Amino acid sequence: MREVPGNSFGLLFRITTFGESHGRAIGVVVDGVPAGLPLSWEDIYRELVLRRPGHKYSTSRRELDVPEIISGVFRGVTSGGPVTIIIWNRDVDSSPYEELKYTPRPGHADLQMIRKYGLDAWDYRGGGRASGRETAARVAAGAIAKKLLCSLGILIIGYVRSVGKLKLEKNVQDPQILMRSRLSPVKTFDPEFERKVMNLIDDVKRRGDSVGGCVEVVAFNVPPGLGDPVFDKLKADIAKAMMSIPGTVGVEFGLGIRLSEMFGSEAADSLIIEDGYVKYLRNVQGGIVGGLSTGEPIIVRVYFKPTSSIASGLRTVDIRKLKEVEIKVRGRHDPCIAIRAVPVVEAMLAIVLVDHAMRCGLISTDRLTLREVKNIEKYWEIYVKYSPPIDKTVESEGSG
Ligand SMILES: Cc1cc2nc3c(=O)[nH]c(=O)nc-3n(C[C@H](O)[C@H](O)[C@H](O)COP(=O)(O)O)c2cc1C
Repeated sequence: MREVPGNSFGLLFRITTFGESHGRAIGVVVDGVPAGLPLSWEDIYRELVLRRPGHKYSTSRRELDVPEIISGVFRGVTSGGPVTIIIWNRDVDSSPYEELKYTPRPGHADLQMIRKYGLDAWDYRGGGRASGRETAARVAAGAIAKKLLCSLGILIIGYVRSVGKLKLEKNVQDPQILMRSRLSPVKTFDPEFERKVMNLIDDVKRRGDSVGGCVEVVAFNVPPGLGDPVFDKLKADIAKAMMSIPGTVGVEFGLGIRLSEMFGSEAADSLIIEDGYVKYLRNVQGGIVGGLSTGEPIIVRVYFKPTSSIASGLRTVDIRKLKEVEIKVRGRHDPCIAIRAVPVVEAMLAIVLVDHAMRCGLISTDRLTLREVKNIEKYWEIYVKYSPPIDKTVESEGSG
């Protein structure tokens, strides 16, 4: 018998998401947030804006995604209780899903949800619980995780590394440069690559098609020793976090799959001494060896399939008439999940790292110290600096 439904993730820093794509709201309960963290709705909104749909390179669903903090924050500071964040669904149009009620989209969760929960219980509107919209709740929780990680000076930055066959060949390890991707409509830091991606997405949209892609995420300033050597390997927990994001098809660390094509002599990394510290020369394993962080940047690549809901025609079955049919998915869909998923990938990495940092005793679990809060203020400023300005007309009804 299953005791815990899979709506929660994490051990000491634990998130539980709720809501459906076309229901009243989605949201998250974050348990394990220590008291004393300065937290405003703007802190969360700034991250949500990065994932928000409504521009040319995403779905045309227009959601403001203004979060309401309804518990766990008092006078602008966390109280130690669960932090609950609600994001109302405002721009819901379920009409295109009426005609898809009996014709499941082959690449989406539709048929499997019907088989598991029954046709009468299945929320067919916009994917219901299996919608990419659920990931807004993860980004909201991720804002808290990122802010807590600032106490250790850890910065997490993701960007689009490839779209279809278009690949960014540069390897940049400077956080300030990578941060520029937060201001890009296609979430990448290199202007030339950005232009190519935009052209490709324009073309894909014109054809009523979609395209896959890869997000790279880097965590800087991670101390050595986060993780565990056996089942709770840091790599294993990050892989689970990433593979739980809808639309993922693979995860790599460091050189990843390329290591499987090499000889030991090519793949070997070296230990060196730099400024009195023992370091890895090339960081080929992406900052995790033996399930434990090495102190080098953690580098993860997450691969996404092309969006399965496309307008150009899909072969499926009308499950009422038991007849093969063709559908063209109308409605508003992302041409490339990878672009929308960048802040989600960052959030999931932040959630795993904060949980492990708490397990190691590196972040206070009850009440933050003054030193931790000072560091948070210092490093959080970097995220704020590289964020699109907050629309002054937007207001949250619950700022905590
Ligand atoms: C941010 C984000 C946005 C997404 N947008 C769409 C979309 O517009 N249309 C769609 O069919 N799938 C979209 N997806 C992917 C589906 O949610 C996903 O394919 C579906 O839940 C089935 O899960 P699976 O692909 O992991 O098997 C999105 C995923 C994410 C993370």
